[in-house]
Amino acid sequence: MRLDKYVSKSTVLTAAQVLEVIARGEISVNDSVTDDPSYQVHKNNTVHWLDTRLECRPFRYIMLNKPPNMICSNIDEHYPSVFNLVDIPHQHELHIAGRLDADTTGLVLITDDGSWSYRLTHPDNHCPKVYRVCLAKPISDDMIMRLEKGVLLQGESAPTLPAAIDVVGANEVLLTITQGKFHQVKRMFAAVGNRVKALHREAIGEINLDVEVGQWRYISVNDNQH
Ligand code: URA
Repeated sequence: MRLDKYVSKSTVLTAAQVLEVIARGEISVNDSVTDDPSYQVHKNNTVHWLDTRLECRPFRYIMLNKPPNMICSNIDEHYPSVFNLVDIPHQHELHIAGRLDADTTGLVLITDDGSWSYRLTHPDNHCPKVYRVCLAKPISDDMIMRLEKGVLLQGESAPTLPAAIDVVGANEVLLTITQGKFHQVKRMFAAVGNRVKALHREAIGEINLDVEVGQWRYISVNDNQH
């Protein structure tokens, strides 16, 4: 972790104050004054601010059930941000791992662990995401076959990766995809001549949504999810 981030996560200083104390030479790593904010602090390093040993707050991992008409952004825009639902200290340190559209509901993961969210959302890691999709038209065998194989989305040069579909009802499916392109689910169904009427994310990797709409809780993250 960068030194400025370490100091920020172990004090109540603002980002500007963190840079000031580092520039003033008040921070030492393993007893050597370190005035480079980008210096990489490793797990076994000891960091002091003058005579006080700094200990990082543990990372936080949160699952939230996003209501419609809220946005996955750190600030309010046309709709209020989902962060209005998570009123906890040091909220500005948190970010969202994998956004949903304003009208999509369901599982949103929030954390201050950038490496974890990077691994979860990086396209190379193919993390599965499960969506419950309500459709304007009944799902047909041909649509299922094309989606399972991969479809070419408008504006893309390569087809989507194979998806899995479980039919719940004539107009409702569970779709599992391992990518996260912009408006991917809506564009996939548009590509096969259907239309998404409602979209709800139920799971990301091994994390299944289990809180009510508008609610959140802390989750623990297994070593194998790190
Ligand atoms: N795919 C979409 O089209 N929208 C979302 O919010 C998530 C996935």
